[in-house]
Amino acid sequence: MKVQLLNKILEVKEQIKDWKKENYTIGLVPTMGALHAGHASLIKKAKEISDKVVVSVFVNPIQFGPSEDFNKYPRKIDSDVEICESLGVDVVFNPAAEEMYGKNKNLSNNDLTFVCPPYNYVDCLCGKARPGHFDGVATVVLKLFNIVRPDYAFFGQKDAQQLFILKNMVKDLNLDITIVPCPIVREEDGLALSSRNVYLSMEERKNALSISKALREIKKLYNDGIIDVKILFDTAVSVLDKHLELDYIEFRDFETFQPLKEVRENTLVAIAAKSGTTRLIDNEIL
Ligand code: PAF
Repeated sequence: MKVQLLNKILEVKEQIKDWKKENYTIGLVPTMGALHAGHASLIKKAKEISDKVVVSVFVNPIQFGPSEDFNKYPRKIDSDVEICESLGVDVVFNPAAEEMYGKNKNLSNNDLTFVCPPYNYVDCLCGKARPGHFDGVATVVLKLFNIVRPDYAFFGQKDAQQLFILKNMVKDLNLDITIVPCPIVREEDGLALSSRNVYLSMEERKNALSISKALREIKKLYNDGIIDVKILFDTAVSVLDKHLELDYIEFRDFETFQPLKEVRENTLVAIAAKSGTTRLIDNEIL
């Protein structure tokens, strides 16, 4: 079957209604497009456990700050559709911003209903440097959930804070959806895949490799029995390339999101740093 490219919410809803009549389970892979092997792994997982798979491709304006890369963010709908087709996706949903948020809407919380995740989950890690970002993410994801009504939704562990916030949104708002976390996909040399990697020069990419190296080093020390966060933090700093502009290295309990002084099982170790002007994130769960 050829993949259907749909731009209108009503068209998607019609298709979903037909599938629900047949009792098909539906998997949703929300993306902002520029699909790479990381997204492909989410889609493959979705194909494995759901009867029908919808991939949304939407560069969501309300999750970008005024000085962020919304205009520059890579948009490649033709190749995204080709990739989805080759992976057996049923529907690519690629709405315009006006379709999602309505014409003539001011996309601020003066004029739009937002989902606001708890302060403790957003005022830290990436949320600290990107105020409002996770309100925008949670809002668009809830809208996508309401449009597609999926049984399963697939998110990469690379955006660990996003994954944590969305898992809690589903729980707190009693949504009947299973969030399926999917492991980080890396280049052979360890760089975590990201649509933003295309911005990196050769030199910046080389420097960025020290992020995954620092995480590997932390994991190695933890496996050797070192649990003191200060020691692990200092080790990571010493491994990170000096040309990177470090934003954070955080150690959080991945069940409660509380910061830790000593690492234990299910600790999220997350790093964010800029290589050149490109902000990169990566993490390990110990
Ligand atoms: O992870 C992303 O690509 C985006 O934050 C998401 C979940 C598609 C919401 O726009």
